[in-house]
Amino acid sequence: MPSPLTVNAERLWQQLEELAQITDPDAPWTRRAFTQRYLEGRAWLRERMHEAGMTTRLDDAGNLIGTLPGSEPALAPLATGSHIDTVPSGGRYDGVLGVLAGLEAVRSLQEAGIRLRHSLEVIDFLSEEPSEYGVSCIGSRAMVGKLSPAMLDFEEPGGERLFDAIRRMGGVPEALSQPLRQPGALAAFIELHIEQGRVLESRQLPIGVVSDIVGIHRYDIVVSGQADHAGTTPMELRRDALAEASGLIKTVQQEARRQAEGSAYLVATVGRLTVSPNASNAIPERVEMVLEVRSNDAALLEGFFPPLLDAAQRQAEDTGVSIAATSLSEGLPTQCADEVQAQIAAAADSLGLSALTMPSGAGHDAVYMAMLAPTGMLFVPCLDGRSHCPQESITRQQAADGCHVLAETLRRLDRG
Ligand code: GLV
Ligand code: MN
Ligand code: MN
Repeated sequence: MPSPLTVNAERLWQQLEELAQITDPDAPWTRRAFTQRYLEGRAWLRERMHEAGMTTRLDDAGNLIGTLPGSEPALAPLATGSHIDTVPSGGRYDGVLGVLAGLEAVRSLQEAGIRLRHSLEVIDFLSEEPSEYGVSCIGSRAMVGKLSPAMLDFEEPGGERLFDAIRRMGGVPEALSQPLRQPGALAAFIELHIEQGRVLESRQLPIGVVSDIVGIHRYDIVVSGQADHAGTTPMELRRDALAEASGLIKTVQQEARRQAEGSAYLVATVGRLTVSPNASNAIPERVEMVLEVRSNDAALLEGFFPPLLDAAQRQAEDTGVSIAATSLSEGLPTQCADEVQAQIAAAADSLGLSALTMPSGAGHDAVYMAMLAPTGMLFVPCLDGRSHCPQESITRQQAADGCHVLAETLRRLDRG
């Protein structure tokens, strides 16, 4: 067995710090996809990829791909990566760690004089986080032909279509009616990510080997009533859209709690709400909200919302309010490949790092990569499980451990 590779913990940490500085200054840490700030982050990353000896390209979906050539060009490449976009006022490590650890793995391999048989791609997927266009994992979906024409037509509040936004990011949206890559185009894909939960921290374990990733369904819900004077309209004459919307939100929460009581994993959240006219003395006329439902059980996921919607629609009719819902996206649960899980566990073991096999409640680009290639993910702990907030925090050692296991796993996968 060849000796383990060393990774440069200090260099990885500095790069994480440096990319974090490319943030909207008034709302750290914010680097929303499709913005100028995001393009700045990508320009920085592209330079780092070149410095590490990689060639770079943007694919038609707007994914930034760095490639380190392997010694056997006939082999399908190995790939790793994640995303450098953030939620508004998000963290410094969600997604970013996976991309920069891939970069550090490449540098470490180069410095150790190790040439892999397979070419190695480090991919920064376009817009993993839910975007202003109402869809997430844009680059990874598009790579496998799962960004539908309807999604390409979604508009952000300013009226720009996703189709045009992808072009603005350097992609070729006309090409996205077909998958950009076919199954078998990659030898394997592996994504390192922070856990975004508390399991590893509470057990004091440095590494999680992901067994499966939740499926996510998102719905756009519009509740329509009538705006009237809040002082003069008696209660029984009101058509209050917000009152009906809040009833539905409460029902969603209660039903999700009920269904999650057993062994099933199911969560449901309304995290986005727009009320109009949104005035303290006007009855709300319209509420638009996004519901997301997550589960690792496909039947639970698909069966959750339709009956609740049905019941809410019938109930709202009595108050002269209507409720309409459209599906924004319907991702199914994904199983990680056994062979990749085994290689991650073996790599962690070879480095003396204890690992726990665990599911992922967060969505990831790996879901779509699993349609192309044997796919796996590994987690490192993050402080108090906090994520999607500025408090998101990891230590230099945790980052280095994850990167080390990632690099070792890539070497093992390369040996085949
Ligand atoms: C990814 O950030 C998710 O929302 O799970
Ligand atoms: Mn995220
Ligand atoms: Mn992420």
